[in-house]
Amino acid sequence: MNDFGRQWEDVRDDALRAFESVGRSGWYILGSRVREFEQALGANWGLAHAVGVASGLDAIELALRAAGMRPGDRVLTTPLSAFATTLAIVRAGGIPVFCDTTETGLIDLDDARAALRAMPGIRYFVPVHLYGFPIDPGGLRSLIDEFELICIEDCAQSIGAEAGGIATGLQGAAAVTSFYPTKNLGAMGDAGAVLTADRSFAERIRCLRDYGQTAKYKHAEIGLNSRLDEVQAALLSDAFLPRLAGWTERRRQIASRYLRDWRSERVRPVAPEGWGSSEWRPCWHLFPVRVAGGEKASLMAWLRDEGIGTGEHYPILIPNQEALRTVSSSCFGALERAERLSSEELSLPIHPYLTDEEVDRVLLAIGRWEESTPPSA
Ligand SMILES: Cc1ncc(COP(=O)(O)O)c(C=O)c1O
Repeated sequence: MNDFGRQWEDVRDDALRAFESVGRSGWYILGSRVREFEQALGANWGLAHAVGVASGLDAIELALRAAGMRPGDRVLTTPLSAFATTLAIVRAGGIPVFCDTTETGLIDLDDARAALRAMPGIRYFVPVHLYGFPIDPGGLRSLIDEFELICIEDCAQSIGAEAGGIATGLQGAAAVTSFYPTKNLGAMGDAGAVLTADRSFAERIRCLRDYGQTAKYKHAEIGLNSRLDEVQAALLSDAFLPRLAGWTERRRQIASRYLRDWRSERVRPVAPEGWGSSEWRPCWHLFPVRVAGGEKASLMAWLRDEGIGTGEHYPILIPNQEALRTVSSSCFGALERAERLSSEELSLPIHPYLTDEEVDRVLLAIGRWEESTPPSA
């Protein structure tokens, strides 16, 4: 699914120089390399303020708290995401409310609208641009406006994705992202960021990430230790961010190759609505496919035997996770589309160091599986 060996060969010189610059500076936490990275990231994304934090999980929690969320507030979100999306809501004291997704795994804005009508008073909204598929920005905007929502867009998988020329993360109060190593922009450890157009919002995040400190030894509120370190910021600035556009382009080429040469009937890509139109430009964090008829495990095992790694995003819906039994949460409706996608979804390799030959090998292996394995039903 990833090839960090190939990545290291590519980034090695820049990464070593970045590390050296931090070592020579003697300043390891929240220094000039963090400030530089924040500026470069904000400029790259088109948002005036970026604040580096310790993880994507913290970025969501801190953004909700900076947005004024209080313990006991309900937060509308998706049941199909990394558990961290909901964990952050719970850690901030929120009560997650789940509504169904579309067939492509994104929160269904019509269902969200129905949920907001049925449960008046919900003010907070955390949609996820899952798989790197951008949620329609116009639809998101009109929902936010209609219900006066405070929206924190989870862009952990969507850096570089855009729809109609608009990047993800520009409709809400803030975009949050993760630099977990497997992400499209990954660090060499944990890191994340909150991005916003609002200076005072950014200042609140800066305060909250550093024990709620407003000046040395002055603590205005109960914050966290969620500081980004200089080593990760330097690596991101010097070795990874400059390569992001090229990596995203390569992911798009790989996705096009998969889609162009797709033959299988029993395995179908979960391509986003509007695929093929130049308006929809996912960043293809993942290349999800659906395997119907309970055959996912068989295909996974087949590909594993052929030396091809796969992933599942995500095999258990968040509201079904055991950890949520002990906290308040609710579901709007039956979440049928999300349930079905979660049981059928498999992710194929799509990292930027994958070669065309390897993509072809994945396609051939799926073809052989289909020929050799009779349908189970
Ligand atoms: C959609 C989504 N949200 C949040 C997170 C949390 O990010 P992190 O692992 O940096 O805490 C992730 C990554 O795992 C993610 O994929």
